[in-house]
Amino acid sequence: MHNLDAIVAEAKALFASIADPDALEQAKARFLGKSGQITERLKGLAKLAQEEKKSAGAAINRAKALVEAALTERREAIREAELAARLAEEALDVTLPGRGEAQGGLHPVTRTLERIESLFRSIGFTVADGPEIETDFYNFTALNTPEDHPARSMHDTFYLLDEQGQVAENVLLRTHTSPIQARFMKAHVERYRHLDVLPEIRIIAPGRVYRVDSDATHSPMFHQVEGLWVGEDVSFADLKGVIADFLKCFFESDDLEVRFRPSFFPFTEPSAEIDVAFMSGTLKGRWLEIAGCGMVHPNVLTHAGIDPERYTGFAFGFGPDRLTMLRYGVNDLRLFFEGDLRFLRQFV
Ligand code: PHE
Repeated sequence: MHNLDAIVAEAKALFASIADPDALEQAKARFLGKSGQITERLKGLAKLAQEEKKSAGAAINRAKALVEAALTERREAIREAELAARLAEEALDVTLPGRGEAQGGLHPVTRTLERIESLFRSIGFTVADGPEIETDFYNFTALNTPEDHPARSMHDTFYLLDEQGQVAENVLLRTHTSPIQARFMKAHVERYRHLDVLPEIRIIAPGRVYRVDSDATHSPMFHQVEGLWVGEDVSFADLKGVIADFLKCFFESDDLEVRFRPSFFPFTEPSAEIDVAFMSGTLKGRWLEIAGCGMVHPNVLTHAGIDPERYTGFAFGFGPDRLTMLRYGVNDLRLFFEGDLRFLRQFV
């Protein structure tokens, strides 16, 4: 039979070596369970003589109390260690420096578009919109483009496929923002049908357009801003004034010249290309083509239900990508659409 002190010492040493609560309860059984060492001692009392029972019983009970106390102490120590471990794991290091907020920025072409919109808003234009997937009617026919015009060919224009995988000849990616003027005029006429006079139309229409073209100055997707002003006495002189003022405001310079060079568009007559030349800076003295324009062709007005004998108008189409290149001195258009942040960050 083990000496009681040895049992207590064994229990203490065993409990101290255990860190897992379930294992600790198992270890408890070795001393206080049904056939644990202390329990066996208590059972053994029955065999002792009457006079020995009392002192032996007291000694066993003292040992039992010591084992129980060691157990309770160990249980608590384990619980505290677990809590401390959890707190350490969940701790926030409030001394870590913050990550800061990443600042986004607008794309340079978006900045140009916003600038154009605000300048035209300031002279009474509103901003109109239209679909990028167009019908051949609005992209060409309503704009007086003949059936055999080369721009209609698949060589120049992206057509969509139908459900059978065949080219849908009347559905395409718009090649310019001009279909927006055709759509807008038609809707405008319907909306004010009840009036004797058609209220003036003064819109710009910015958006993405698509052509089968790709090199340093052409991208298959690029931007245009169409402008349209239709009313009772709108003349080519108004067109020239609006464009010259716009360019001076846009480039924040009076030191530039604007020239209208006779040209051809099916939807305007007469038509012109607009060139600009800066009188100072690195581009000094070079004429750069930046827009097409003209007086809206009578057939286009008629298509929209507007009487060309009574109303006239002008239209123009700018390339805001090209304006952005000029404003910031960028020489390759493709840089704008490659999404390289090292390039784009310079404009923020
Ligand atoms: N839509 C023409 C183009 O894409 C530009 C333009 C617009 C010309 C309006 C005249 C009037 O080239």
